[in-house]
Amino acid sequence: MPVRRIALLGATGSIGRQAIEVVERNPELELCALASGSSDLAALAAEHGVERVQVGGDLTELLDAAEPDVVLNAVVGFAGVGATLWALERGVTLALANKESLVAAGQLARQAKERGGGLLLPVDSEHSALFQCLEGREPSTVDSLVLTASGGPFRGRSRAELADVGVEDALAHPTWSMGPKITVDSATLANKGLELIEAHFLFDVPYERIEVVIHPTSVVHSLVRFRDGAALAHLGYPDMTVPISYALTYPARAATDVPGLDLAAGLTLEFSAPDLETFPLLALARRAGEAGGTYPAVFNAANEVAVAAFLEGRLPFLGIAELVEDALDAADGAPAGNLAELVEADAEARRLAGRGVPVA
Ligand SMILES: NC(=O)c1ccc[n+]([C@@H]2O[C@H](COP(=O)([O-])OP(=O)(O)OC[C@H]3O[C@@H](n4cnc5c(N)ncnc54)[C@H](OP(=O)(O)O)[C@@H]3O)[C@@H](O)[C@H]2O)c1
Repeated sequence: MPVRRIALLGATGSIGRQAIEVVERNPELELCALASGSSDLAALAAEHGVERVQVGGDLTELLDAAEPDVVLNAVVGFAGVGATLWALERGVTLALANKESLVAAGQLARQAKERGGGLLLPVDSEHSALFQCLEGREPSTVDSLVLTASGGPFRGRSRAELADVGVEDALAHPTWSMGPKITVDSATLANKGLELIEAHFLFDVPYERIEVVIHPTSVVHSLVRFRDGAALAHLGYPDMTVPISYALTYPARAATDVPGLDLAAGLTLEFSAPDLETFPLLALARRAGEAGGTYPAVFNAANEVAVAAFLEGRLPFLGIAELVEDALDAADGAPAGNLAELVEADAEARRLAGRGVPVA
């Protein structure tokens, strides 16, 4: 395989650091650009011989200059949207961890991908699993997609028991070690809501044929049901190295040092329905997805505002869902015809959501 030049956006984050380990292990992968939000990148760039770096600002300028073969978008939040559309529009392979960009810009991203004709390889473990289960299948044979969710640290609790939970409680994820925003999203199930919308746009499957189930050990990463009654599942220990490596080395599936499943040691594979009353953000995401237009962007923007306020101690845990619901109720959801209109809808949703955050 010729050397692949990778632009790593969000290089200092949880996914970014694991991606660097994957690159270090594979001589056919090379970093050609690094970006972060505010962290200094000088040491990392020097260590990996990367000339092009960018801290904050417009990531598309960095991409124009670096001309990568692959963009690994591991930025957190809507800030990654420009890079996602840049890669899709040009047919440059996009390894996508930044689910928020696809949720917010779903229609625009689809159109850009159609024009660009490149690869969109999901890095989210559930979507990497679905991608692999779906690869080479005739769409008409697919009955439904099943996304698994660990249930987060508050699985099994009632609403009343969540009234006083704090930031540290929410950041104690049982199976995955991740950045703070996605960890809070996992505790509220907003993450699974974002993934529901992400799956809809990635695989073009209607929402009524995408199910979410709770699976506490995160060993089954997702499943596809087919029309003949068979289901294909993707299994493995929870470790983001696997989907990152799969996307960066696709279709070669390079070796990793992640151990194979030890079945003889006894694996617990339990599944149950999610508790939508205690974790309303999953139902709100479905509602936003089905409503279409910019409702998914509003869901995402309000959730980003609410999670930031929760992490700063300005909003209680249960206030996150309330704030998102209020923003969805207040928004008009009109579709965005271009990136400028989407950025405006995102900003408006942030304004609406910000009104619900108590002043510190
Ligand atoms: N972590 C996981 O296991 C996991 C699994 C599946 C999907 N994802 C998705 O992957 C994305 C990254 O998650 P994470 O857990 O790695 O987050 P994280 O640890 O918080 O890292 C976020 C990265 O994004 C950078 N960043 C923030 N704002 C930016 C901006 N405006 N421009 C450029 N870079 C910016 C940060 O730079 P600074 O250091 O300067 O802040 C950091 O490098 C999220 O969309 C998440 O949902 C993560």
